[in-house]
Amino acid sequence: MARHFLALHDFSEIELYGMLTLARELKEKQKQGVPHKLLDGKTVALIFEKASTRTRVSFEVGVFQLGGHGLFISSANSQMGRGEPIKDTARVMARYCDGVMIRTFGQEIVDEFARYSDVPVINGLTDMFHPCQIMADLMTVIEQKRTYEGLVYAWVGDGNNMANTWIEAAAIFGFELRLACPKGYEPDAAVMAWAMAKAPGKITLTSDPKVAVAGADVINTDVWASMGQEAEQKIREQAFAGYCLDDALVSLAKPDCIVLHCLPAHRGEEISDSVIEGKHSVVWDEAENRLHVQKAIMATLIK
Ligand code: CP
Ligand code: NVA
Repeated sequence: MARHFLALHDFSEIELYGMLTLARELKEKQKQGVPHKLLDGKTVALIFEKASTRTRVSFEVGVFQLGGHGLFISSANSQMGRGEPIKDTARVMARYCDGVMIRTFGQEIVDEFARYSDVPVINGLTDMFHPCQIMADLMTVIEQKRTYEGLVYAWVGDGNNMANTWIEAAAIFGFELRLACPKGYEPDAAVMAWAMAKAPGKITLTSDPKVAVAGADVINTDVWASMGQEAEQKIREQAFAGYCLDDALVSLAKPDCIVLHCLPAHRGEEISDSVIEGKHSVVWDEAENRLHVQKAIMATLIK
Protein backbone atom coordinates (compact mmCIF):
# COMPACT_ATOMS: atom_id res chain seq x y z
CA MET A 1 0.00 0.00 0.00
CA ALA A 2 1.36 3.37 -0.99
CA ARG A 3 1.71 6.01 1.74
CA HIS A 4 0.31 9.38 0.69
CA PHE A 5 1.08 12.95 1.83
CA LEU A 6 -2.38 14.52 1.78
CA ALA A 7 -2.50 16.26 5.16
CA LEU A 8 -0.13 16.62 8.11
CA HIS A 9 -2.60 14.81 10.40
CA ASP A 10 -1.69 11.49 8.73
CA PHE A 11 1.84 11.74 10.17
CA SER A 12 3.41 11.81 13.62
CA GLU A 13 5.75 14.49 14.91
CA ILE A 14 8.65 12.02 14.62
CA GLU A 15 7.84 11.21 10.99
CA LEU A 16 7.51 14.86 10.00
CA TYR A 17 10.64 15.83 11.91
CA GLY A 18 12.46 13.01 10.09
CA MET A 19 11.49 14.57 6.75
CA LEU A 20 12.65 18.00 7.95
CA THR A 21 16.00 16.51 8.97
CA LEU A 22 16.38 14.78 5.60
CA ALA A 23 15.48 18.07 3.91
CA ARG A 24 18.37 19.81 5.70
CA GLU A 25 20.76 17.01 4.65
CA LEU A 26 19.61 17.21 1.03
CA LYS A 27 19.95 21.00 1.05
CA GLU A 28 23.53 20.65 2.25
CA LYS A 29 24.30 18.03 -0.40
CA GLN A 30 22.81 20.15 -3.14
CA LYS A 31 24.84 23.21 -2.02
CA GLN A 32 28.05 21.10 -1.89
CA GLY A 33 27.35 19.49 -5.27
CA VAL A 34 27.14 16.02 -3.71
CA PRO A 35 24.93 13.68 -5.81
CA HIS A 36 21.81 12.43 -4.04
CA LYS A 37 19.92 10.51 -6.67
CA LEU A 38 17.33 8.99 -4.37
CA LEU A 39 14.73 8.84 -7.18
CA ASP A 40 17.08 7.53 -9.87
CA GLY A 41 15.04 6.63 -12.95
CA LYS A 42 11.69 7.38 -11.30
CA THR A 43 8.92 9.48 -12.78
CA VAL A 44 6.58 11.79 -10.86
CA ALA A 45 3.43 13.28 -12.42
CA LEU A 46 2.78 16.88 -11.38
CA ILE A 47 -0.91 17.65 -11.94
CA PHE A 48 -2.16 21.23 -11.69
CA GLU A 49 -5.80 22.29 -11.62
CA LYS A 50 -4.76 25.75 -10.34
CA ALA A 51 -1.97 28.19 -11.21
CA SER A 52 1.50 27.84 -9.67
CA THR A 53 5.00 29.26 -9.80
CA ARG A 54 6.85 27.86 -6.77
CA THR A 55 5.16 24.48 -6.51
CA ARG A 56 5.60 23.65 -10.16
CA VAL A 57 9.21 24.76 -10.43
CA SER A 58 10.35 23.35 -7.07
CA PHE A 59 8.82 19.95 -7.75
CA GLU A 60 10.17 19.76 -11.32
CA VAL A 61 13.65 20.83 -10.25
CA GLY A 62 13.49 18.64 -7.14
CA VAL A 63 12.64 15.45 -9.06
CA PHE A 64 15.45 16.23 -11.51
CA GLN A 65 18.00 16.76 -8.72
CA LEU A 66 16.96 13.39 -7.27
CA GLY A 67 17.71 11.71 -10.61
CA GLY A 68 14.12 11.33 -11.73
CA HIS A 69 11.80 12.95 -14.21
CA GLY A 70 8.81 15.19 -13.41
CA LEU A 71 5.93 15.51 -15.87
CA PHE A 72 3.98 18.77 -15.74
CA ILE A 73 0.32 18.08 -16.47
CA SER A 74 -2.19 20.92 -16.61
CA SER A 75 -5.72 19.67 -16.10
CA ALA A 76 -6.91 22.12 -18.75
CA ASN A 77 -4.79 20.33 -21.36
CA SER A 78 -5.51 16.78 -20.23
CA GLN A 79 -8.66 14.67 -20.21
CA MET A 80 -9.20 15.66 -16.56
CA GLY A 81 -10.27 19.07 -17.87
CA ARG A 82 -12.83 17.34 -20.10
CA GLY A 83 -14.39 15.44 -17.22
CA GLU A 84 -12.49 12.13 -17.10
CA PRO A 85 -13.19 10.78 -13.60
CA ILE A 86 -10.49 11.32 -10.97
CA LYS A 87 -10.51 7.62 -10.12
CA ASP A 88 -9.76 6.68 -13.75
CA THR A 89 -6.94 9.22 -14.03
CA ALA A 90 -5.48 8.02 -10.73
CA ARG A 91 -5.35 4.36 -11.80
CA VAL A 92 -3.82 5.17 -15.19
CA MET A 93 -1.17 7.49 -13.70
CA ALA A 94 -0.10 4.76 -11.29
CA ARG A 95 0.59 2.45 -14.28
CA TYR A 96 3.12 4.93 -15.70
CA CYS A 97 4.50 6.88 -12.77
CA ASP A 98 6.16 6.20 -9.41
CA GLY A 99 4.46 9.12 -7.66
CA VAL A 100 1.94 11.90 -8.22
CA MET A 101 1.71 15.46 -6.94
CA ILE A 102 -1.64 17.14 -7.40
CA ARG A 103 -2.83 20.73 -6.84
CA THR A 104 -6.57 21.04 -6.97
CA PHE A 105 -9.71 22.42 -5.30
CA GLY A 106 -11.52 20.22 -2.74
CA GLN A 107 -9.61 17.98 -0.34
CA GLU A 108 -12.01 15.21 -1.34
CA ILE A 109 -10.42 15.25 -4.81
CA VAL A 110 -6.94 14.39 -3.49
CA ASP A 111 -8.50 11.88 -1.10
CA GLU A 112 -10.27 10.12 -3.98
CA PHE A 113 -7.15 10.29 -6.17
CA ALA A 114 -5.13 8.65 -3.41
CA ARG A 115 -7.77 5.99 -2.74
CA TYR A 116 -7.41 4.78 -6.35
CA SER A 117 -3.65 5.29 -6.66
CA ASP A 118 -1.13 2.48 -6.16
CA VAL A 119 1.67 5.07 -5.96
CA PRO A 120 2.18 7.85 -3.39
CA VAL A 121 0.09 10.99 -3.92
CA ILE A 122 1.33 14.33 -2.56
CA ASN A 123 -0.99 17.28 -1.91
CA GLY A 124 0.45 20.33 -3.67
CA LEU A 125 -2.38 22.55 -2.26
CA THR A 126 -6.11 22.16 -1.92
CA ASP A 127 -8.73 24.59 -0.66
CA MET A 128 -8.31 22.90 2.74
CA PHE A 129 -4.56 22.27 3.19
CA HIS A 130 -1.09 23.21 1.88
CA PRO A 131 1.11 20.69 3.76
CA CYS A 132 4.25 21.02 1.60
CA GLN A 133 4.28 24.76 2.30
CA ILE A 134 3.99 24.41 6.07
CA MET A 135 6.82 21.84 6.00
CA ALA A 136 8.97 24.43 4.18
CA ASP A 137 7.87 27.05 6.71
CA LEU A 138 8.88 24.81 9.63
CA MET A 139 12.23 24.08 7.99
CA THR A 140 12.77 27.84 7.72
CA VAL A 141 11.81 28.37 11.37
CA ILE A 142 14.31 25.69 12.46
CA GLU A 143 17.06 27.28 10.32
CA GLN A 144 16.39 30.70 11.80
CA LYS A 145 15.62 29.75 15.42
CA ARG A 146 17.46 26.38 15.70
CA THR A 147 14.23 24.78 16.96
CA TYR A 148 10.48 24.84 16.44
CA GLU A 149 9.82 24.24 20.13
CA GLY A 150 8.95 26.86 22.73
CA LEU A 151 8.17 29.53 20.15
CA VAL A 152 5.00 31.57 19.77
CA TYR A 153 3.51 31.48 16.26
CA ALA A 154 1.01 34.06 15.02
CA TRP A 155 -1.29 33.83 12.02
CA VAL A 156 -2.82 37.08 10.74
CA GLY A 157 -5.52 37.02 8.07
CA ASP A 158 -7.76 34.53 6.33
CA GLY A 159 -8.60 31.20 7.96
CA ASN A 160 -7.64 29.49 4.72
CA ASN A 161 -5.69 26.41 3.57
CA MET A 162 -2.47 27.82 5.05
CA ALA A 163 -4.10 28.60 8.40
CA ASN A 164 -5.73 25.15 8.54
CA THR A 165 -2.37 23.48 7.93
CA TRP A 166 -0.62 25.62 10.56
CA ILE A 167 -3.31 24.54 13.02
CA GLU A 168 -2.58 20.89 12.28
CA ALA A 169 1.15 21.56 12.65
CA ALA A 170 0.64 23.25 16.03
CA ALA A 171 -1.36 20.27 17.28
CA ILE A 172 1.17 17.70 16.03
CA PHE A 173 4.33 19.55 17.09
CA GLY A 174 2.74 20.99 20.23
CA PHE A 175 3.61 24.67 19.82
CA GLU A 176 1.57 27.77 20.64
CA LEU A 177 -0.34 29.19 17.67
CA ARG A 178 -2.44 32.36 17.89
CA LEU A 179 -4.69 33.07 14.94
CA ALA A 180 -6.28 36.44 14.18
CA CYS A 181 -9.05 36.17 11.59
CA PRO A 182 -11.99 38.48 10.87
CA LYS A 183 -15.45 37.25 11.86
CA GLY A 184 -16.79 35.01 9.11
CA TYR A 185 -13.30 34.11 7.87
CA GLU A 186 -12.25 31.70 10.63
CA PRO A 187 -10.36 28.46 9.92
CA ASP A 188 -12.19 25.20 9.23
CA ALA A 189 -14.24 24.26 12.31
CA ALA A 190 -13.48 20.53 12.08
CA VAL A 191 -9.73 21.18 11.81
CA MET A 192 -9.91 23.51 14.83
CA ALA A 193 -11.87 20.96 16.86
CA TRP A 194 -9.43 18.15 16.01
CA ALA A 195 -6.39 20.28 16.85
CA MET A 196 -7.78 21.70 20.09
CA ALA A 197 -8.59 18.20 21.29
CA LYS A 198 -5.11 16.95 20.36
CA ALA A 199 -3.22 19.88 21.91
CA PRO A 200 -5.43 21.54 24.53
CA GLY A 201 -4.60 25.19 25.22
CA LYS A 202 -2.05 25.53 22.40
CA ILE A 203 -4.26 27.10 19.72
CA THR A 204 -6.22 30.32 20.23
CA LEU A 205 -8.43 32.33 17.89
CA THR A 206 -9.05 36.08 18.10
CA SER A 207 -10.27 38.78 15.73
CA ASP A 208 -7.60 41.21 16.98
CA PRO A 209 -4.28 40.96 15.06
CA LYS A 210 -2.48 42.83 17.88
CA VAL A 211 -3.44 40.14 20.40
CA ALA A 212 -2.13 37.40 18.10
CA VAL A 213 1.15 39.13 17.26
CA ALA A 214 2.11 40.47 20.74
CA GLY A 215 5.39 38.81 21.75
CA ALA A 216 5.35 36.36 18.82
CA ASP A 217 8.52 34.71 17.45
CA VAL A 218 7.07 33.78 14.06
CA ILE A 219 4.43 35.78 12.16
CA ASN A 220 2.71 34.40 9.11
CA THR A 221 0.15 35.81 6.71
CA ASP A 222 -1.30 35.05 3.28
CA VAL A 223 -3.51 36.60 0.62
CA TRP A 224 -7.06 37.62 1.52
CA ALA A 225 -8.59 35.94 -1.55
CA SER A 226 -7.15 32.55 -2.39
CA MET A 227 -7.23 30.86 -5.78
CA GLY A 228 -10.86 30.22 -6.66
CA GLN A 229 -12.07 33.21 -4.57
CA GLU A 230 -11.13 35.95 -7.04
CA ALA A 231 -14.77 37.13 -7.33
CA GLU A 232 -14.77 37.89 -3.58
CA GLN A 233 -11.70 40.15 -3.76
CA LYS A 234 -13.55 43.45 -3.18
CA ILE A 235 -15.74 42.23 -0.33
CA ARG A 236 -12.74 40.57 1.30
CA GLU A 237 -10.71 43.80 1.10
CA GLN A 238 -13.41 45.39 3.28
CA ALA A 239 -13.62 42.46 5.70
CA PHE A 240 -9.83 42.35 6.16
CA ALA A 241 -9.32 46.10 6.74
CA GLY A 242 -6.90 46.41 9.69
CA TYR A 243 -5.29 43.03 8.99
CA CYS A 244 -2.29 44.31 7.00
CA LEU A 245 0.95 43.01 8.46
CA ASP A 246 2.76 46.36 8.58
CA ASP A 247 5.64 47.78 10.62
CA ALA A 248 3.34 48.88 13.47
CA LEU A 249 1.97 45.34 13.87
CA VAL A 250 5.39 43.68 13.57
CA SER A 251 6.78 46.05 16.24
CA LEU A 252 4.50 44.31 18.79
CA ALA A 253 6.24 40.97 18.22
CA LYS A 254 9.65 39.92 19.62
CA PRO A 255 12.47 42.16 18.32
CA ASP A 256 14.02 39.12 16.59
CA CYS A 257 10.78 37.77 15.16
CA ILE A 258 10.66 36.31 11.68
CA VAL A 259 7.99 36.99 9.08
CA LEU A 260 6.78 34.25 6.74
CA HIS A 261 4.58 34.48 3.64
CA CYS A 262 4.05 31.55 1.30
CA LEU A 263 3.85 33.90 -1.73
CA PRO A 264 2.51 35.20 -4.02
CA ALA A 265 2.07 38.36 -1.91
CA HIS A 266 -0.18 41.32 -2.48
CA ARG A 267 1.82 44.25 -1.12
CA GLY A 268 -0.38 46.84 0.55
CA GLU A 269 -3.09 44.28 1.27
CA GLU A 270 -2.13 41.48 3.68
CA ILE A 271 1.50 42.67 4.02
CA SER A 272 3.25 45.99 3.55
CA ASP A 273 6.13 46.41 1.15
CA SER A 274 8.35 47.51 4.05
CA VAL A 275 7.67 44.30 6.01
CA ILE A 276 8.14 41.84 3.15
CA GLU A 277 11.34 43.65 2.11
CA GLY A 278 12.41 44.32 5.71
CA LYS A 279 14.83 42.73 8.19
CA HIS A 280 12.33 40.28 9.71
CA SER A 281 11.29 38.78 6.37
CA VAL A 282 12.64 35.33 5.50
CA VAL A 283 10.30 34.73 2.58
CA TRP A 284 13.02 33.93 0.02
CA ASP A 285 14.57 31.23 2.23
CA GLU A 286 11.04 29.98 2.82
CA ALA A 287 10.39 29.75 -0.93
CA GLU A 288 13.74 28.00 -1.50
CA ASN A 289 12.99 25.47 1.21
CA ARG A 290 9.99 24.22 -0.77
CA LEU A 291 12.57 22.56 -3.03
CA HIS A 292 14.48 20.83 -0.25
CA VAL A 293 11.54 19.73 1.85
CA GLN A 294 9.60 18.33 -1.11
CA LYS A 295 12.68 16.34 -2.17
CA ALA A 296 12.67 14.86 1.34
CA ILE A 297 8.95 14.09 1.18
CA MET A 298 9.30 12.41 -2.23
CA ALA A 299 12.42 10.47 -1.21
CA THR A 300 10.64 9.24 1.93
CA LEU A 301 7.44 8.11 0.20
CA ILE A 302 8.37 7.08 -3.34
CA LYS A 303 9.99 3.66 -3.46
N1 CP B 1 3.46 29.15 -2.24
C1 CP B 1 3.02 28.51 -3.33
O1 CP B 1 2.46 27.39 -3.26
O2 CP B 1 3.28 29.17 -4.50
P1 CP B 1 2.75 28.81 -5.94
O3 CP B 1 1.25 29.06 -5.94
O4 CP B 1 3.48 29.73 -6.87
O5 CP B 1 3.02 27.37 -6.25
N1 NVA C 1 -4.01 30.58 0.16
C1 NVA C 1 -3.37 30.73 -1.13
C2 NVA C 1 -2.03 30.09 -1.12
C3 NVA C 1 -1.27 30.19 -2.41
C4 NVA C 1 0.05 29.48 -2.38
C5 NVA C 1 -4.25 30.11 -2.21
O1 NVA C 1 -4.82 29.05 -1.97
O2 NVA C 1 -4.39 30.71 -3.28
